[in-house]
Amino acid sequence: MRTQNSWLLLGLLSKLGSTTPVANSSLAKGATTFTNPILWEDYPDLDVFRVGDVFYYSSSTFAFSPGAPILKSYDLVNWTPVSHSVPTLNFGSKYNLNSATDRAYVKGIWASTLRHRASNDQFYWIGCVESSKTYVYTTGSSGAGKNSGEVSSWDWKQKATLNKCYYDCGMLFDDDDTIYVAYGNSKIMVAQLNADASAEVKSQQVYVDPAGAYIEGSRMYNINGTYYIFVTKPASAEWVLKSTSPWGPYEKKVLVDSISGPLPNAGYSHQGGIVNTKDNKWYYVAFLDSYPGGRIPVAAPLTWSPDGWPTLVKDGNAWGKTYPMPVQTTKTVPAPVGTDTFNGTALSNDWEWNHNPDTTKFKLLGGTAGLQLSTATVTTDLFTARNTLTHRILGPKSSGTFALDISAMADGDHAGAVLFRDVAAYIGIHKSSSSAHLVFVTNVTLNSNWATQSTGTVAATGPALSSGTTDVWLRVQADITPAFSGTAVQRTATFWYSVDGSRFVQLGNAFPMTNSYTFFTGYRFGVFNFATKALGGRVVVKSFSMQLV
Ligand SMILES: *[C@@H]1O[C@H](CO)[C@@H](O)[C@H](O)[C@H]1NC(C)=O
Ligand SMILES: *[C@@H]1O[C@H](CO)[C@@H](O)[C@H](O)[C@H]1NC(C)=O
Ligand SMILES: *[C@@H]1O[C@H](CO)[C@@H](O)[C@H](O)[C@H]1NC(C)=O
Ligand SMILES: *[C@@H]1O[C@H](CO)[C@@H](O)[C@H](O)[C@H]1NC(C)=O
Repeated sequence: MRTQNSWLLLGLLSKLGSTTPVANSSLAKGATTFTNPILWEDYPDLDVFRVGDVFYYSSSTFAFSPGAPILKSYDLVNWTPVSHSVPTLNFGSKYNLNSATDRAYVKGIWASTLRHRASNDQFYWIGCVESSKTYVYTTGSSGAGKNSGEVSSWDWKQKATLNKCYYDCGMLFDDDDTIYVAYGNSKIMVAQLNADASAEVKSQQVYVDPAGAYIEGSRMYNINGTYYIFVTKPASAEWVLKSTSPWGPYEKKVLVDSISGPLPNAGYSHQGGIVNTKDNKWYYVAFLDSYPGGRIPVAAPLTWSPDGWPTLVKDGNAWGKTYPMPVQTTKTVPAPVGTDTFNGTALSNDWEWNHNPDTTKFKLLGGTAGLQLSTATVTTDLFTARNTLTHRILGPKSSGTFALDISAMADGDHAGAVLFRDVAAYIGIHKSSSSAHLVFVTNVTLNSNWATQSTGTVAATGPALSSGTTDVWLRVQADITPAFSGTAVQRTATFWYSVDGSRFVQLGNAFPMTNSYTFFTGYRFGVFNFATKALGGRVVVKSFSMQLV
């Protein structure tokens, strides 16, 4: 189990990198090199693999819902979210954010695993929740096997629950279709599952460090008949375990240990997994502790020795900032920036709710009419209010602007744009029967047990909006350049409003963000609407726009 003390120690062990920050990771078509990070967004605990022409990437999401997002890429560098493996967090009632004492902050989906199974063309996701149960989710026949990796239908369903924890697991569909799962912390275990992944056949310990190092984050591969388990020694190193049998014995070599780069003031690149291109060039994709922004993916090529050990291609002694482009292709994915008018039949995969939402309290209105958020909870506590909708922040600096129709807010309702994390702040509307007050609220804070410490302090007020006001634009602008180690600087966010959609006015002072890792998820943009008196009010989110600044 990952204790707070062990992570505190690991945090102290992290140290400063030495290269310069990257301003822009997006690439012109036909680029021959790429720049790390490959996607400057909080997608931690990654598992990466390829089906045909398409790379897939799975990530952890704690108590955000839907959980375990899946991203796709054609070149390993440009990524877009396309699905979530866990449509609803069916892990117990606290995942519905029932009350101030019945909620699941920092619980839920930790490091988990996603793979495509060639024999039945289904995707499988496996994850342990709260160190007790392991959940298996699968798609139907996806179409990917017959169409170069392109999925025609995801259709994720909960398939099985196992009454044991495959902590930080990594799945392998072996060449003979046997299912193995490597897992565990300190003691690395391998389990064999039955043919439909609904029960364990056998499990045994395969590796423990003779010197007693804490290791976790298993990823398992069979490459040319040799078995590999990649594990991390958090939060600084990645080890490779290699054997001729899935059951061991495994020999160990160090892939990376405390190498600097590619960004300064971040942690060390570690954990993650490996993947090859169609022409068999291998890459290691790790993540970098980049608080306040969370944990972001970085990639580097691997070479192999004749006896089957991988070596990371470095830039001097550091993780490189730029490397040759893994794949040249004309296929593209949408850029992470842009405007969402909520015009689909479902929310895009960029969005995740804080805990499972009350599905009776939100509605896509159709066309470009927007997303209606009715108040779902009577509370004074944003952390207890259901249906806060969140969106990852694009680094190094970006703004998120929500256009809101506030005309149907009710007396006592609080709605707005939040910079969401355990130390949060928001710009919003506090509605009374007579007026709508623009407020900037700071000190919205959870304590270290994730109980609400403070529901916030009004740090600034804007002009009272006239009763006829319908449209308000609320903007959060955040600098998530890493300030995790080697600096005392705290990055800041600023909060802005507009009543015409073009002239924005800053409200209050810049808000310093916490650089602590213990909440694990980095800061996010979010939009909320809760009642302090009675349900019945609503807002419409007409659009959301994220832009680099
Ligand atoms: C990022 O790079 C792309 C492609 O070269 C360019 O179109 C875009 O304007 C750049 N954005 C920023 C913020 O520099
Ligand atoms: C695996 O076998 C293929 C085909 O013989 C070879 O090209 C490749 O270098 C081998 N090793 C790895 C790590 O792919
Ligand atoms: C929503 O709007 C975007 C941007 O105009 C457009 O690309 C997309 O096709 C629209 N989606 C639907 C489902 O209408
Ligand atoms: C923040 O909230 C805590 C707990 O309620 C309180 O002790 C502290 O004074 C508040 N800080 C500010 C700046 O309002």
